[in-house]
Amino acid sequence: MAQKTVLVLGCGPNIGSSTVGTFRKSGYRVVSASRSCDGEASDDSTMALKCDLAQPKSVEYLFKTVREEWGEPSVVVYNGCAYYPTKPEESFNIPTENFEQQLAINTTSAFVAMREAANSFARLDGSKTLIFTGTMANEGGVPGWLTLCVGKAAGAYMIDLAENVYREQDARFHCVDERTSEGKPMFEGLGGQAHADVFLDLAERKVDLPWQVTFVSGKGYVEFPHELIL
Ligand SMILES: NC(=O)c1ccc[n+]([C@@H]2O[C@H](COP(=O)([O-])OP(=O)(O)OC[C@H]3O[C@@H](n4cnc5c(N)ncnc54)[C@H](OP(=O)(O)O)[C@@H]3O)[C@@H](O)[C@H]2O)c1
Repeated sequence: MAQKTVLVLGCGPNIGSSTVGTFRKSGYRVVSASRSCDGEASDDSTMALKCDLAQPKSVEYLFKTVREEWGEPSVVVYNGCAYYPTKPEESFNIPTENFEQQLAINTTSAFVAMREAANSFARLDGSKTLIFTGTMANEGGVPGWLTLCVGKAAGAYMIDLAENVYREQDARFHCVDERTSEGKPMFEGLGGQAHADVFLDLAERKVDLPWQVTFVSGKGYVEFPHELIL
């Protein structure tokens, strides 16, 4: 059987690096992409490609490169994000160009990644998975984090829709959102390896979960009430 490829967009030292290591150990070829990736292949199962999610065309180019090198990816992780924190009462005091740039990273490039992933998945047999690293923004958001919450809420909407549209083709779309044991957002201590373990379980169909995967490190999937808990 051909070796499967996972593509991690927005791959840094925590969630990204853990995801790369976890999928490598499970036999996947891994492509990591971020602004600081150098374009070098470190071995025949690992590539690190430069990509700026503020430029949606960069995501199209990334998929083109991966297809030319290794064929269609069967797992895509969209992990990059941008934020412009303000005081809650200054939520709208954000220059238009900053709002647009962050929307490109949090939403537009996520849209392009979902569209390109759906195109890749249509050409592959077997299970296919796209994971969007979520936050609880789609439950109501956190005051003072407008650009992140707008983008993540839009991303969650697209994931919910894609999960309905593509599920019968064994293509699953999930928004994975780590919470504290009380169901609150992770303001600190985000679990890189805990995310990677959930991502692999979803990709390998070891669990069958809804589009919105809220999880607690050490416990796994936990369904919380759909209301803002801060
Ligand atoms: N569940 C929660 O409550 C919660 C809390 C906090 C964060 N999160 C989510 O967790 C994710 C990040 O986790 P992490 O920090 O552990 O991940 P990470 O893999 O350690 O880092 C993410 C990487 O994304 C890359 N990135 C940022 N902007 C980019 C851009 N414009 N183009 C390309 N790459 C870009 C950065 O690398 P370069 O600088 O090299 O580009 C960064 O190192 C985000 O999706 C965030 O929303 C969730």
